[in-house]
Amino acid sequence: MVATNRLHLAFVALLWTGCTSTAAPSPESSMTREELVDPERCKSCHPDQYREWASSMHAYATDDPVFTAMCERGQRETGLKLGTFCLKCHAPQAVADELIVSAAEDIYKLPKAYRGVTCFFCHTVDAVTGSHNNGLHQANDLVLRGPLSDPLRTDAHRSSYSTLHDRDQIGSSDLCGSCHDVVAPSGAALERGYAEWHGSVFNQTPGGTTCGQCHMPQSPQSKTVAAVEGAPIRRAHSHMFPAVDTALTEWPDKAAMASAVQTELNKTLQSALCVKKIGAGAQLSVILDNVAGGHGFPSGAALDRRLWVELVAKKAGKMIYQTGNVPDGVVVDDGKDPDLWLLRECAYDANGKLVHMFWQVASVVGNTLPVQLTFNQSDPRFYQSHVRGDFPANGTQLAEMPDEVTLRVRLQPIGRDVLDDLLESGDLTAALRDAMPNWQVGQTLVWTPETATHAFQQDGLAVSCRTETNLNPQADSVPAKRLVGCKAQ
Ligand code: HEC
Ligand code: HEC
Ligand code: HEC
Ligand code: HEC
Ligand code: HEC
Repeated sequence: MVATNRLHLAFVALLWTGCTSTAAPSPESSMTREELVDPERCKSCHPDQYREWASSMHAYATDDPVFTAMCERGQRETGLKLGTFCLKCHAPQAVADELIVSAAEDIYKLPKAYRGVTCFFCHTVDAVTGSHNNGLHQANDLVLRGPLSDPLRTDAHRSSYSTLHDRDQIGSSDLCGSCHDVVAPSGAALERGYAEWHGSVFNQTPGGTTCGQCHMPQSPQSKTVAAVEGAPIRRAHSHMFPAVDTALTEWPDKAAMASAVQTELNKTLQSALCVKKIGAGAQLSVILDNVAGGHGFPSGAALDRRLWVELVAKKAGKMIYQTGNVPDGVVVDDGKDPDLWLLRECAYDANGKLVHMFWQVASVVGNTLPVQLTFNQSDPRFYQSHVRGDFPANGTQLAEMPDEVTLRVRLQPIGRDVLDDLLESGDLTAALRDAMPNWQVGQTLVWTPETATHAFQQDGLAVSCRTETNLNPQADSVPAKRLVGCKAQ
């Protein structure tokens, strides 16, 4: 161990001789390991990275009350067999430093410095040894690895360039992916964000796109990335990581996070809404295209996500058809709406019973929107992300031709059914359940004969569509797999 440390030091010192900085080389960091582990210690020199990180789900990962509720319940129901499974990703430094043994109560006692996915954890990874369940290896040389090949020398800490921390290197996705891929104790693949990305058109060099290229956008203006004298002007990279989840409790910059999440959701999908005239009646169809995700949508915690299509058709101001009309705070899928197009993952235990908790899961079946597999339009796989839902779902038709149809795509980050399950087991309070927001994904699309953007003939019938995007509603599409009450329709 000592020998490898020395070797590494020698290597770093060699790099430093090429540095143009005038400061004297600092072979040792002036901060102790204990100090380096604490994100508060980074704040004074890296205020932007700190502020963004502090508002992020990475910082919230151990405090998230749904997380602690599930974790406590998991420990209770498995007789502590869950061990550090959850915390390995949600408080990785605490597990690495053995602050957590197994009891769920340990979570609440954790010092702040060890909560969440911390600066020190990410920035000391020197190897990825597994593609899931946090197979990340940390160096123990106190060198903070990052994207700068010419870091200004600082007495605070030692620095080094690392391809794993450079979003322009395809291998940097492996660092994120190792945590963003969860395999349950049963072996069921629960969260597959990395696996989905790995099999997609985005995993290629050149021409690929890494997790960081989408999720760590560059600052529009160059600025210093360290608040010290003589710091060079560079591009900073956002550490906010907005996607779907937001803090349910008091947390820094909540409003900024909510608006960043909405901005992301606004550009994720492109949708089209078509009305086919059949005699005096009509059929509706909705096409959803996952245009911005580097993986499926929803992805990751798809087990908990509830994404659904809401349609309201009217004639002369009177509602003649609707589906997916779910008031806020209500379980989306009550099994009573046969036309519901709900996109989620359904999990089953070993006896085939529908379950919500990781440790109960033996298998999963889902119908989330797939990721783009090719950019080549002549390849049939091009249209696999062009998914079409027809309404009514059973092939019948609306009795009348509507003159206005409204489409909204909606999302519950964690399904009300999952939260109710935690409420019933006494692990979550009603106030927290009710704090869960509902999101709208993209704009509301209103079709009327006047606002239609496309018209064409299909099987001798007139089809009229509204799309606000460059999506071609006439292009090939894949029929949606429908799940009602988690049963295939
Ligand atoms: C391999 C790493 C890993 C493990 C192990 C893990 N998680 Fe997570 N967890 C994640 C990631 C990554 C996300 C973010 C996923 C997303 O946003 O799609 C997440 C999100 C969550 C969330 C919030 C989002 C949601 O909708 O569910 C909860 C709650 C949660 N995990 C609970 C748990 C519990 C409880 C366990 C243990 C039974 C656990 N996790 C084990 C990586 C992990
Ligand atoms: C006294 C000021 C100071 C403190 C405190 C400090 N840093 Fe730095 N850090 C710097 C400077 C200066 C750079 C180089 C910036 C440049 O070259 O533009 C840097 C660079 C970095 C880099 C990039 C390294 C590379 O080669 O890409 C990372 C990562 C980093 N710091 C993380 C941290 C973390 C994590 C903490 C808290 C534990 C921290 N820093 C605390 C001054 C500081
Ligand atoms: C040590 C494990 C770990 C690593 C490494 C990691 N993450 Fe995460 N990430 C998590 C966990 C855990 C959460 C969820 C926290 C929660 O919601 O409770 C999360 C949340 C997120 C979210 C927000 C998800 C949501 O639904 O709101 C995004 C986006 C994200 N991570 C992207 C990345 C990217 C990009 C990287 C690589 C630069 C990365 N993560 C590296 C564990 C990790
Ligand atoms: C989930 C992993 C992760 C966490 C947590 C994290 N970083 Fe980073 N950080 C990265 C990655 C990846 C990059 C490189 C982005 C790129 O390609 O330029 C980076 C870049 C940086 C840089 C270089 C300047 C820039 O903005 O690109 C600094 C400095 C830095 N991080 C400091 C911090 C500090 C301080 C914290 C905690 C407050 C922190 N990081 C938390 C992954 C992380
Ligand atoms: C081409 C851009 C792109 C790439 C590449 C990409 N993502 Fe995403 N990601 C998105 C978009 C767009 C969303 C959806 C927006 C949202 O959830 O607000 C998203 C959502 C997510 C979420 C939340 C998913 C959910 O439904 O719970 C996580 C977590 C995430 N990404 C992590 C990753 C990781 C890890 C990688 C690399 C393995 C990655 N992303 C690669 C664009 C990308």
